[in-house]
Amino acid sequence: MKPFSQFFIFLVIVLATSYIDAFTRNDFPEDFLFGAATSAYQWEGAADEDGRTPSVWDTFSHSYDTGNGDVACDGYHQYKEDVKLMADMGLEAFRFSISWTRLIPNGRGPINPKGLLFYKNLIKELRSHGIEPHVTLYHYDLPQSLEDEYGGWINRKIIEDFTAFADVCFREFGDDVKLWTTINEATIFAIASYGEGLTPPGHCSPNKFINCSTGNSSTEPYLAAHNMLLAHASASKLYRLKYKSKQRGSIGLSIFAFGLSPYTNSKDDEIATQRAKDFLFGWMLKPLVFGDYPSEMKRTLGSRLPVFSEEESEQVKGSSDFVGIIHYTTFYVTNRASASNFPIMNQGFFKDMGVYMISTGNSSLFEWEATPWGLEGVLEHLKQSYNNPPIYILENGKPMKHDSMLQDTPRVEYIQGYIGAVLNAIKNGSDTRGYFVWSMIDVYELLSGYTTSFGMYYVNFSDPGRKRSPKLSASWYSGFLNGTIDVSSQDTIQLQRKFSGSSSF
Ligand code: BGC
Repeated sequence: MKPFSQFFIFLVIVLATSYIDAFTRNDFPEDFLFGAATSAYQWEGAADEDGRTPSVWDTFSHSYDTGNGDVACDGYHQYKEDVKLMADMGLEAFRFSISWTRLIPNGRGPINPKGLLFYKNLIKELRSHGIEPHVTLYHYDLPQSLEDEYGGWINRKIIEDFTAFADVCFREFGDDVKLWTTINEATIFAIASYGEGLTPPGHCSPNKFINCSTGNSSTEPYLAAHNMLLAHASASKLYRLKYKSKQRGSIGLSIFAFGLSPYTNSKDDEIATQRAKDFLFGWMLKPLVFGDYPSEMKRTLGSRLPVFSEEESEQVKGSSDFVGIIHYTTFYVTNRASASNFPIMNQGFFKDMGVYMISTGNSSLFEWEATPWGLEGVLEHLKQSYNNPPIYILENGKPMKHDSMLQDTPRVEYIQGYIGAVLNAIKNGSDTRGYFVWSMIDVYELLSGYTTSFGMYYVNFSDPGRKRSPKLSASWYSGFLNGTIDVSSQDTIQLQRKFSGSSSF
């Protein structure tokens, strides 16, 4: 490397890290969990092997040209090697999801013995390496058969089928799994899958951006979300009645949480930000904590917002032992009810929310800016407005172009900034109990296929063996977890120097 570029990188790191106060793993509570995450369709591959049948994600990905998860990282066959990478790294917890159609191929009914064995083996492998499994039951991969039969999440029948699926998981895996998330990022799932057509199963009203074959963006997101809350509450009730006293685990729902901050210090922008928080967080958290939707949403949406019966409200209220947070970046919010710089935010849910959201970074969806203060704001808001619930940050990470560039310094800066924000929040009283990097290794990405990636391990997707190679972020996270690296500019620079001297493919 030329001396000038070396100096430039050195300067960038010094500037980027100089605002961080030094801290270490030991500054966090001992039982705080540091982990990393993947999800079934994005990691496992083996899409039509050993009895698995298609989910809506298989169908969705095969109808676009961004690749698919047929092979993905081949985690189904290489899980032992991956668990070894995690163990070598010093990972304390691994978050993964269960493919519903691998376990119960028809969506309901008989269990697939090979699917069952895979998850039992994976969990055993994690446990034997001292890694805590955090299991997500649903991560965008509804059995296609249930979508075809009754429309999946927009039909109340999903509540019974989801609960029966959860029952199998609790019964079969619950002795070794203490942390369960029912539904991944339920809020943005409802919006992106049933309003924007961006994620599986890809429903939306006709619009000029996405060609959906079915949907109604002004009603389906609210209907799907309502059924998600009821399905979550039903699974949680079952867990508490039938399993909790013996298995002693916790169960929670996860939501997607942008950082939100007023664009100016005007009263109008402050009100607009509060409204955005009601829509984006309160939509699910108000029912979970207080038993009903925010009055602001009820007023705006009228009959488009489903209503909880008294019994349902009681069941949903208090059904989450913790709140899972998926967080990537922050938006400024203003009261101007005009178009956002993200075209997809101008319809459906975002239009109903009636505020203008301005990205803090450049306007590409994949270049989200690191704004650790935004996450700190989310955690403070949840502490103040929702009775300080236990929280797990279930995803946080930095997308970069997927290439063989192992020196992912911007990702290291991003992650250490956010871990610092979590530490600040804890010092300020937030009951945050864990932090998971998205993603453990490069995976088939939800929005971008194989073009961008978040992994701490590079995966060569052109190689039939899907070779994994550690990036700088893997060494950094490992050093942080093992206590050999302090979060300070000095240590990061040293690590980066060592890494450039040793890395090879
Ligand atoms: C989703 C993941 C996805 C990641 C990056 C999250 O919101 O849960 O499945 O890969 O974002 O886009």
